[in-house]
Amino acid sequence: MLRGAGLGASDLVVDVGCGTGRLTLPLAALTPARVVGVDAEARMLEVARSKDAAARVEWLRGSAYRLPLADRAAALVVMVMVVHLLRQRVRAFREAHRVLGTGGQLSVWTFTPRHVAEFYLNAYFPSIPMIDRPRFPSAEVLTAELCRAGFAEVRVEVREEVRRLDIADVVDRVRGRYISTLGMLPPLEYRLGLQQLEERLAQDRATTLAQRSEWAIITARTTTAE
Ligand SMILES: C[S@@+](CC[C@H](N)C(=O)[O-])C[C@H]1O[C@@H](n2cnc3c(N)ncnc32)[C@H](O)[C@@H]1O
Repeated sequence: MLRGAGLGASDLVVDVGCGTGRLTLPLAALTPARVVGVDAEARMLEVARSKDAAARVEWLRGSAYRLPLADRAAALVVMVMVVHLLRQRVRAFREAHRVLGTGGQLSVWTFTPRHVAEFYLNAYFPSIPMIDRPRFPSAEVLTAELCRAGFAEVRVEVREEVRRLDIADVVDRVRGRYISTLGMLPPLEYRLGLQQLEERLAQDRATTLAQRSEWAIITARTTTAE
């Protein structure tokens, strides 16, 4: 992503929905450009700031629909694990387009519909795929939406990641509702699914679960003719 953007010290990178800076901080370490992290949640930004001892990143509270940045201020806008939380994706893409200069790049990272269909917790929480299907549309749908927002040269890369997770870690993650979908489940389904996982932990602490993730990494550019 950074190689494609070819950034210099006078360029600006904006991480929209930066959360606690999980990606923003490594990004800032890899680029000479100025880096801004924008998030709607003050608590997320507080954690991000506390991790940024060198104050390398400027952390700003703001919405993906109304970024606190001037027109054409940025060379690269990044949205990682954010579009599934947006009710109006095209509106957010238009806003990213507004802040990008000529030939600027938007990079959207999200999960594919296949990831949703094969998610490792579906067996415990059967409503997850129904909740997540509309939140994680196909790359074709996202490409069409990016074009409607004014972007051109849309490229899609699919990446697979396979990990084995300790059952104790899975139970901790689920107890902490580590993905927003867990907070959207019917309460009884959540309790029963968690109970099943806790029973597996009690039976054998050495149990592991395979998590196969499939990412769509979508890169779009503002047209150079602008
Ligand atoms: C799942 S987290 C991902 C955080 C980070 N990008 C990462 O990959 O670690 C989604 C973040 O998007 C933020 N967010 C959700 N809707 C937003 C909006 N409309 N405008 C700005 N940030 C938003 C949330 O507050 C949250 O911090």
